[in-house]
This record gives sequence, structure tokens and C-alpha cells, in this order.
Amino acid sequence: MQHIYLKKKIVLQFYIFRMKKILITGGAGFIGSHVVRLFVNKYPHYDIYNLDALTYAGNLENLTDIDQKPNYHFIKGDIVNGEFIQKLFEEHQFDGVIHLAAESHVDRSIANPMEFIFTNVVGTVNLLNAARLIWKDNAERKRFYHISTDEVYGSLGETGSFKETTPYRPHSPYSAAKASSDHFVRAYHDTYGLPTVISNCSNNYGPNQFPEKLLPLFINNIKHSKPLPVYGKGINVRDWLYVEDHANAIDTIFHFGRDGETYNIGGNNEWRNIDIIKKLIEIVDAKLGRPAGTSLPLITYVTDRAGHDLRYAIDATKLKTELGWEPKIKFTEGFEKTVDWYLANEKWLDNVTSGAYVDYYHKMYDNK
Ligand code: NAD
Ligand code: DAU
Repeated sequence: MQHIYLKKKIVLQFYIFRMKKILITGGAGFIGSHVVRLFVNKYPHYDIYNLDALTYAGNLENLTDIDQKPNYHFIKGDIVNGEFIQKLFEEHQFDGVIHLAAESHVDRSIANPMEFIFTNVVGTVNLLNAARLIWKDNAERKRFYHISTDEVYGSLGETGSFKETTPYRPHSPYSAAKASSDHFVRAYHDTYGLPTVISNCSNNYGPNQFPEKLLPLFINNIKHSKPLPVYGKGINVRDWLYVEDHANAIDTIFHFGRDGETYNIGGNNEWRNIDIIKKLIEIVDAKLGRPAGTSLPLITYVTDRAGHDLRYAIDATKLKTELGWEPKIKFTEGFEKTVDWYLANEKWLDNVTSGAYVDYYHKMYDNK
């Protein structure tokens, strides 16, 4: 492993002096905000441009601790607008792109697939076109990094795990759109020689996640003693990774990954939904000073998600052996930190759960 770290150090020095302008898309969202924070703090020599349309999931409050730093720049804009993207790239001549902007919630994709095709597919191709144009004469030391999901691989049975070579078999409009964007990224590498890299990660958890996703939604509902809508029998399995571990993996792959390659990222941490929900109830009840088991009766089994993938599991051997990355945050530590953050950041939760969110919640859950 020693040689990996020495090589990393040398390559990093090289990049720090060569790479200057990095575009991060979706930097006001959940994972994007952690990536922006990491890059702004760790690489003061880089100028970090956060491009975000500030949809319901984008929130500049996620970045108040770094938004005054001189190497941070925010641009409000929509990746679906090809003309705007082209001009932006011509103006700034970015050296690298880390592309996280997406419609990311499976349930919303079932209700409204078109948004997912526009942002996840058309938006990604707009970015690829713009990068291709500005790097056409010199793609040396440039990098287009596309952040994707394990959901493109489909669903597993009781055993096995997704490898980078696992054939794509997406089941939801969300994962089909992400799969399509992955194919375009590879096609631009193979056809035009664009220096691309892709990673496919499992479920993230941590601070700043919009509370329509399982964990923040359930923390908020437990706190307010509202029903916890468990889809189907609650036996679906997800692999959970702390969001800062994902951000560190992205840093590693961005700097050291090989062009044209794909890297799987996972937490080695599989949970059945019902088990992680019971664990969450135990921790939140304890932190709220309620007797053990108080919130268990809130569990409410509801109609299953259509096309609900049974199990995801990641084989991240390639990332470990090639680039030396492994998750660092133990689940018990990350989980406690996550719960503490949502309980301490009541104002953040209240802000994002007011207004349009209320309509969304009724539409999604009232008929279940
Ligand atoms: P998120 O929904 O929290 O954030 C998405 C961000 O993209 C928001 O800030 C939003 O405003 C922005 N955005 C949406 N449409 C846009 C557009 N048309 N133009 C510009 N900006 C736009 O998502 P997340 O959970 O942080 O996921 C980020 C990326 O990571 C996505 O590509 C997702 O597919 C991928 N991913 C997520 C997970 C997870 O567990 N959350 C796991 C693996 C991969
Ligand atoms: O695997 C990576 C993916 O993880 C990312 O690509 C997605 O962007 C991200 O949203 C996440 O997708 P999931 O569908 O797995 O996450 P979600 O939090 O929506 O659901 C997690 C599990 O919990 C899933 O099996 C569905 C279930 N669930 C979810 C909600 C919102 C419920 O049982 N009840 C709920 O109310």
C-alpha cells in the first residue's frame, strides 16, 4: 500500500499546480455540498465553481460555513440549458468537472419521469458537449468525472454484489436515466477521447440530506410522532455509506482514477430497511429522552414502491486495491452523528419541510 500513497502524493502536487478551475455541478445538494466543502477547504489553490439550479433539493444554507472563502464561487444555472452551459465553459475554461447535479429521488421519478430525462440525460450530455469543445485541442490533465449510482445495476437476490463489470439493468425511471447518462459518458470517452471517469455509489447518509429520503424523513417523523411509512414488508436491503466517506472517495477518484474507468464505491454495510428503521427509532428515542420503544408503534407498512429493487450490495475491491480508498467512518459513529445533526438543526429541517414540501408529502403518502 505504501507505494500507492507515495504515488498519490507526487500526482497530487502535480495537479495542484496544474488544475485551477473545477466545476462542481449540484454542489448545493446533499452529496454535492460535502464535496464542495472538502475541495474548497483542502485545495485553496483551486477555484471551485458550484453550478446549481437550486431546485427543491438544492439549498445554499448547506454551504454557509465556506461560502465566503475566496476560492469558492456560486453560479445559479440549469444544466438542461445547453446554450448557457456552452457559454459558461467558454468563459471559464474549466480544467475539471465533477458532475453531481441530478434529479435523485426514485419516488419522484415514478411520479414524473420527464424531469429525470431532462436533467440526468440531457443535462449530462450538455456538459459533455461543452467539455469536449473547450478541451478539443488539449485534453491533457483535464477530467470529466460523472457521479453515478449502484441502482444502474438493478437488483440482487440474497447473495452476490455489484462489480464494475455487472451488466446494467435499471428498474426505475431514475436509475434508467442515470444508466443512460453513464452510457453517454463512456461513449464520449470512446468516441471523442474525452478524459472521463465514472463512479457508482451505494446509499449515502449524513447531514444535509433532503428529508424525502428514508433516514432524514424518518428522523423528522419520529421527532414529531408521525407515522413511519415502510414500503412493502421492509425487507429490501441497502448498503449505507457516510456521505463524507463518499466525498473522500470522489476526491481520490478525481485525482487518481484512470481515464475511461469506472469505480464502485460502497460502505460494506448492508441493512434491511426494517432493521435500520428499528435502530433509528432506538437512537432517536434515546436522544429525545423517551422510554425505549416509544416510537415503534409509528411503523406503518404501506403499499410497496413500484419496481422496488430488493437488494443492493457493492464490491469496491477495485477502488481499494487500485487507489487505496476504504470507508473510514464506522456506522455506529456516522449514524449517531447524523441523528445529532438533524436534531440540532431544527431550523434547517423546518425551512426545507415548509411550503412546497407539504404538498409533496400529501401527494406521495396520503393514498398509501
Ligand atoms: P440531491 O437531490 O440532494 O442534490 C441534487 C442537486 O442537483 C441539487 O442541489 C439540485 O438543485 C441540483 N440540480 C438538480 N437539477 C439540476 C439542473 N437541471 N441543473 C443544475 N442543478 C440541478 O442529490 P444527492 O443525493 O446529493 O445526489 C447527488 C448525485 O449523486 C446524483 O447524481 C445522484 O444520482 C448521485 N448518487 C446519490 C446517492 C445518494 O445516496 N444520495 C448515491 C449514489 C449516487
Ligand atoms: O443506492 C443509491 C441510491 O440511494 C441513490 O442513487 C439515490 O439517489 C438515493 O435516493 C437512494 O435511493 P433509494 O431509493 O435507495 O433511497 P430512499 O431513501 O428513497 O429509500 C431507501 C429505502 O427505503 C428503499 O428501499 C425504499 C425505502 N423507503 C423509502 C422511503 C422514502 C421506505 O420504506 N419508505 C419511505 O418513505
